[in-house]
Amino acid sequence: MLTITTGAVVHADALAALRDVPPGSAGLVYADPPFNTGRPRRGLRLRVALDPDGGDRTGFAGRRYRSERLLLQQYPDSFDDYLGWLAPLLEESRRVLAPHGTLYLHLDPRESHYCKLLLDQIFGRDHFLNELVWAYDYGARSTRRWSAKHDVILVYVRDRRAYHFDAAAVERIPYMAPALQRPDRAALGKLPTDVWWQTIVPTNSRERTGYPTQKPLAILRRIIAASSRPGELVLDWCAGSGTTGVAAHQLGRRFLLIDHGTDAVALMRRRLEDVPGLRCTASVSELLG
Ligand SMILES: C[S@@+](CC[C@H](N)C(=O)[O-])C[C@H]1O[C@@H](n2cnc3c(N)ncnc32)[C@H](O)[C@@H]1O
Repeated sequence: MLTITTGAVVHADALAALRDVPPGSAGLVYADPPFNTGRPRRGLRLRVALDPDGGDRTGFAGRRYRSERLLLQQYPDSFDDYLGWLAPLLEESRRVLAPHGTLYLHLDPRESHYCKLLLDQIFGRDHFLNELVWAYDYGARSTRRWSAKHDVILVYVRDRRAYHFDAAAVERIPYMAPALQRPDRAALGKLPTDVWWQTIVPTNSRERTGYPTQKPLAILRRIIAASSRPGELVLDWCAGSGTTGVAAHQLGRRFLLIDHGTDAVALMRRRLEDVPGLRCTASVSELLG
């Protein structure tokens, strides 16, 4: 049994760590693996300083500023055999899920259709619950094709008849035309559908950690609220900056975060330092009791 009272961060390879997790331990597995973009993912910060004599940009009242891009964190994102890497991780994810448990696999349109077929094989086609589209609106636009501004989150359940899904726990969103609704319905808001409009973590927000491809807390809070029970374990085997742990703790769930990146683990430890009883280990076996 895992002895995690609040949360744990494990600095290890995901597959090695998952193999040590006892079967049925987690109510929810969320994984946001590298998307196989073919290039390293970098978290950059722009540093801007006043430069009256030169500079590369002009600000308020014509003042000149010099800007510099600082590299904060990075991780590699190129695979010869992406599905071959992912398949055993998804098999282990299914094994560690409780009978009422759910997997959320976060991808983008580069690989999501191949991964859906893979998940159909591993979980069974009739265990597919949803394909969520997270739509955002940020960054440059292409004039050669439709700009890619969405991620895909595939949702599979361990048992079609017993899975946990609590719509009442999900924060409602405003109606697009509230005036067309009865006042009580407009005040209550509506349930989100499978298309989620949500901004990326803004560059100047307090939530921003500088970790590349950090996901918004609002996305993780919605997933955790709907598909896990208070007190149970939420597991993330590609945890990055630890967004899943922050959201899980806020919502009264326990968490197990795994990442093989030294920078990611150092960042998670800082981000989660206020979690009482947080355990940080180099293997899952140290958490067994
Ligand atoms: C897309 S990022 C996760 C971002 C995270 N969801 C967040 O909000 O910050 C993917 C993470 O997977 C980690 N990773 C990649 N391969 C791994 C492996 N084999 N074992 C453990 N972690 C891995 C990388 O170090 C990176 O931090």
